[in-house]
Amino acid sequence: MKKDCEIVDLFLYEYIRSKQRKEARKCSSSSMEEEEAQLDLLMAFMKEKEKNNQVEEHHNFWPHMVKKLIYLHAAMCEPLRLFPPVAFGQRQAIHTNTLPSGHCVNPSSMIIYSMYTIGRSKEIWGENCLEFKQERWTSSKGEITHVPSYKFITFNAGPRSCLEKEMSFNEMKMVASAVLRNYHIQLVKGHRASPTLSIGISMKQGLKVKITKRSI
Ligand code: HEM
Repeated sequence: MKKDCEIVDLFLYEYIRSKQRKEARKCSSSSMEEEEAQLDLLMAFMKEKEKNNQVEEHHNFWPHMVKKLIYLHAAMCEPLRLFPPVAFGQRQAIHTNTLPSGHCVNPSSMIIYSMYTIGRSKEIWGENCLEFKQERWTSSKGEITHVPSYKFITFNAGPRSCLEKEMSFNEMKMVASAVLRNYHIQLVKGHRASPTLSIGISMKQGLKVKITKRSI
């Protein structure tokens, strides 16, 4: 447990440092290649551990490795579209304003918008909007497709959008890859997961699964 905490701490410190480096590079306008070429502290740490034959499952914590998990990324975007953890957003205008739709909003009006509905809109996502199709998130070249945040609204859009969207993806990928690498997970027959009717969506009765340890 102590060792695991150290690994997570190192990951988080390196993550913050890499963000700081990125910002600093933006100012000095260095190239993307330079960014790619930089070895981070965590990588050096993992190499050191490898040398000492102490590495095994912790390599899942490689932050730049999880970025390469494109299939997993797509498999995470699709449920986040269909079941956004924050189902509703709410805004109030400071001054009278007119929306692009032509609707006039006055300062006393409160606008509540449903991320749940936007994620399932036929106009936005097409005829198959209710189907789980992770290929929406990848190009024919197998790269992640950029989907504007006003379309994929789960993390909100504009100046008050989620500050930790990228970190959330990294964390989810780290957890999922660590779990899937070690365990085989099978949905219990007949169990139907259904969402709660609340602002924060969760599963009514959880997700009933059968877990077996993988023998690798
Ligand atoms: C799947 C995971 C997550 C989802 C779907 C999500 C979604 C959102 C949404 C919809 C908002 C906008 C709320 C509003 O203004 O009405 C928001 C804001 C925010 N989120 Fe997240 N979030 C996630 C994870 C996280 C994590 C892990 C952190 C921090 C470690 C975080 C930090 C924040 C912060 C600080 C804001 C406020 C931004 C601001 O008001 O300027 N989020 N998030």
